[in-house]
Amino acid sequence: MGMRKMTLPPVSRMQFTSDMHICRIINGMWQVSGAHGPIDPRAAIQNMLEYHREGFTTWDLADHYGPAEDFIGEFRRQLAKAGGTQALAASQAFTKWVPSPMKMTRPVVREAVERSLRRMDVERLDLLQFHWWDYTNPNYLDALAYLDELREQGKIRHLALTNFDTAHLEALLKNGIHIVSNQVQFSLIDRRPEVQMVQLCQEHGVWLLPYGTMCGGLLSEIYLGRAEPRPWELNTASLQKYKHMVDTWGGWKLFQELLQTLKGIADKHQVTIPNVAVRYVLDSPVVAGVILGVRLGAADHRQETGQIFGFMLDEQDHVQIQTVLDRSRDLYRLIGDCGDEYRG
Ligand SMILES: NC(=O)c1ccc[n+]([C@@H]2O[C@H](COP(=O)([O-])OP(=O)(O)OC[C@H]3O[C@@H](n4cnc5c(N)ncnc54)[C@H](OP(=O)(O)O)[C@@H]3O)[C@@H](O)[C@H]2O)c1
Repeated sequence: MGMRKMTLPPVSRMQFTSDMHICRIINGMWQVSGAHGPIDPRAAIQNMLEYHREGFTTWDLADHYGPAEDFIGEFRRQLAKAGGTQALAASQAFTKWVPSPMKMTRPVVREAVERSLRRMDVERLDLLQFHWWDYTNPNYLDALAYLDELREQGKIRHLALTNFDTAHLEALLKNGIHIVSNQVQFSLIDRRPEVQMVQLCQEHGVWLLPYGTMCGGLLSEIYLGRAEPRPWELNTASLQKYKHMVDTWGGWKLFQELLQTLKGIADKHQVTIPNVAVRYVLDSPVVAGVILGVRLGAADHRQETGQIFGFMLDEQDHVQIQTVLDRSRDLYRLIGDCGDEYRG
């Protein structure tokens, strides 16, 4: 069996902002941070060029994901060498700033943005997604005001958030801060965004960029029919994080029923469990694109991921999925709104 050269179809793309056309599957770079096993930088950059060539042109990263911002810098230099400015213009890199909740002055904020600009080797950040750990500390309002200044000065194309809850997103929008998107956990297991967040986003034209949609790989054939994994068998930070979610959601037995149901649906469409899990979230009304973690140079799911754009879930699929989900616990009641898991 030869390797087929793949290119994503046009439906894989969407107009995210007036100036940015993105891939609806966004390559997540937490997986290069070291918390998911070793990554060889050279192989990773090679792999990034392949992703880009096949249409996976959009990257999600953060200042604290190990070498992720440096990888973008090196990837862009190599991309420019191979394809010039045109190739560069077709690539989008969405980073984050996750400061500790200290005093937010103009120099502190500028220095953080300039550090990302230097590392990523760009003149302007395509999207800066801001995270804040503690709403009782109001300094985030200063941070966002200074970030907005940097946006006006052309250092940031668009301002966004990650893990903000509905109330605080709403307050910011009412304050006139122009927020393009909010990156939140959103999967078949964690549907908290559907409670309030989606509606607010619809009203204000804010996109959601979901993560955790494959539960770090738990939502896949690998775990179908498997005994409950022991903590030490969960060898990535993602698997550990989302196993906790599954436990809170309803436990391993119900999770197995969900996997069985998804397998039936996947077989019917001749796709896979991750394909079904991602398609479900991708079809939510305010989802621009879903972020899927990629272990660059170490694991490759591109061919399989491309199948997401070749099928749709039908009414019967939704009924079957809902029948299982109806028996799960209410994570909104147990954990709170989007991002509350970060704010014990
Ligand atoms: N804003 C935040 O607070 C936040 C938090 C977490 C994540 N994120 C973002 O979201 C991204 C996604 O990370 P995540 O931790 O949520 O993980 P995820 O995307 O739910 O899971 C990624 C893992 O799923 C496995 N997998 C199984 N089948 C797959 C398939 N068909 N296609 C692709 N992968 C498959 C892969 O494992 P193998 O590599 O072992 O094959 C892969 O490493 C991160 O990289 C980051 O950019 C953001």
